Amino acid sequence: MPSDIVQGSADYRDAGLVFPPGFTFGSATAAYQVEGAAAQEGRLPSIWDTFSRTPGKVWNGDTGDVACDHYHRWESDLDLMQELGLDAYRFSIAWPRVVPTGRGAVNQAGLDFYSRLVDGLLARGIEPVATLYHWDLPQPLEDAGGWPARATTDAFEEYAAIVGAALGDRVHTWTTLNEPWCSAYLGYGQGGHAPGRHEPAAALAAVHHLNLAHGRALRALRATSTGAPEYSVTLNFHVLRGAGDAAADAMRRIDALANRAFTGPMLKGEYPADLLEDTASVTDWSFVQDDDLATIRQPIDVLGVNYYSTATVRPWDGETPMQHNDGHKLVAGGTAWPGSDGVVEFVEQPGPYTAMGWNIAPDGLYELLTGLHDEFPDQPLMITENGAAFDDVVAADGSVSDPERVDYLRRHLTAAHRAIEAGVDLRGYFVWSLLDNFEWGYGYAKRFGIVRVDFDTLERTPKHSALWFRDLAATHVLPR
Ligand code: NOJ
Repeated sequence: MPSDIVQGSADYRDAGLVFPPGFTFGSATAAYQVEGAAAQEGRLPSIWDTFSRTPGKVWNGDTGDVACDHYHRWESDLDLMQELGLDAYRFSIAWPRVVPTGRGAVNQAGLDFYSRLVDGLLARGIEPVATLYHWDLPQPLEDAGGWPARATTDAFEEYAAIVGAALGDRVHTWTTLNEPWCSAYLGYGQGGHAPGRHEPAAALAAVHHLNLAHGRALRALRATSTGAPEYSVTLNFHVLRGAGDAAADAMRRIDALANRAFTGPMLKGEYPADLLEDTASVTDWSFVQDDDLATIRQPIDVLGVNYYSTATVRPWDGETPMQHNDGHKLVAGGTAWPGSDGVVEFVEQPGPYTAMGWNIAPDGLYELLTGLHDEFPDQPLMITENGAAFDDVVAADGSVSDPERVDYLRRHLTAAHRAIEAGVDLRGYFVWSLLDNFEWGYGYAKRFGIVRVDFDTLERTPKHSALWFRDLAATHVLPR
């Protein structure tokens, strides 16, 4: 639609679905996925540097050593965001850049990078939304036990106080953790993510220590931030479908492990009783100490929601080879679901699919948002990630037409709009991702960006989806 239509006019409403005036349109990235400069200016290895160097762990042997070279190209990347008219940018701070050994000496050069980034965003009228932990645990902390060890939460609180004091006068929104489900279960249970351990009990200890780290970091950020930031955490909820009539218990189990294991302590101050029962053969949860739940439960201004697709479960039939869902798709083996491996099985879902093999299900986003609103009516929500990988094709003139991604975004934004109309207090939407980047175990093979990155030349090319998103951010109208 033309961008000169006056907001609020009849033409404007007729043109499509109108998002509220203060609704935030942004894009997201994460440090290890885009920065590169892995061994520069004082940064030391994280668990992802170690993992990606371990043969067979990441497709094609890719690492984040160079990634999008955002560490050096941040200014032109910010210019690009400004050209796209983004209201906000969600990025993460690399713990191993700021406190390279995890605890102790601060690397001023690392802090200065984020300080310049924040200033650069503010100078361009873009709100900085900073995540403290997007999976890059300093390697020395993993060597000392990682997230299954309680001491990691001491280190995280110290790190949070350091970044709070350095940036808390200017950051718009603090996010403590990104998708702790992945850190705990994929990192320590299933092993497809760093550090690649297969220890179901450790995965549950990691769940608790990530929750505790969230609470302790909020405390540290509140004590040190001198501005008026908002506080948040980002969770990847599992939207579950049941295959067959007997699926209710399977859905309940996975909901407990994936969703309520985090919202329970963070928003209600308790672990769900059924979670403790289901996992009793794996752990007695004695790592939960007296005041922990009071520390974890703290008000947050917005709850960040990452959504890509749904998962379908049923009781295991005892015959088919065990499979589990690694977040979005089926992989052989178990241990991503402690206490429910061999009890619940994940089944194929109807398409269409993205290049990740993930099913496209915008209704799931609507269900998720309205379900969270029903359960936590006073909790504002923010979609902190949604997006899709497709095998983009570069035309002879260098342009990138990506109609499937536009369609994916359009359909999910339509679902989000429907949720707003149903009464959900949804504050914004961040597309994953600004740039094609290091997609964890898939390396550079899967492209989520609205901006293409040529990984040979590091040249950036906005795809058609970026231009489409620019028009949406400018007009707040999703064309019909
Ligand atoms: C979740 C993660 O937060 C992000 O790092 C990842 O790249 C996307 N989803 C896509 O898998």
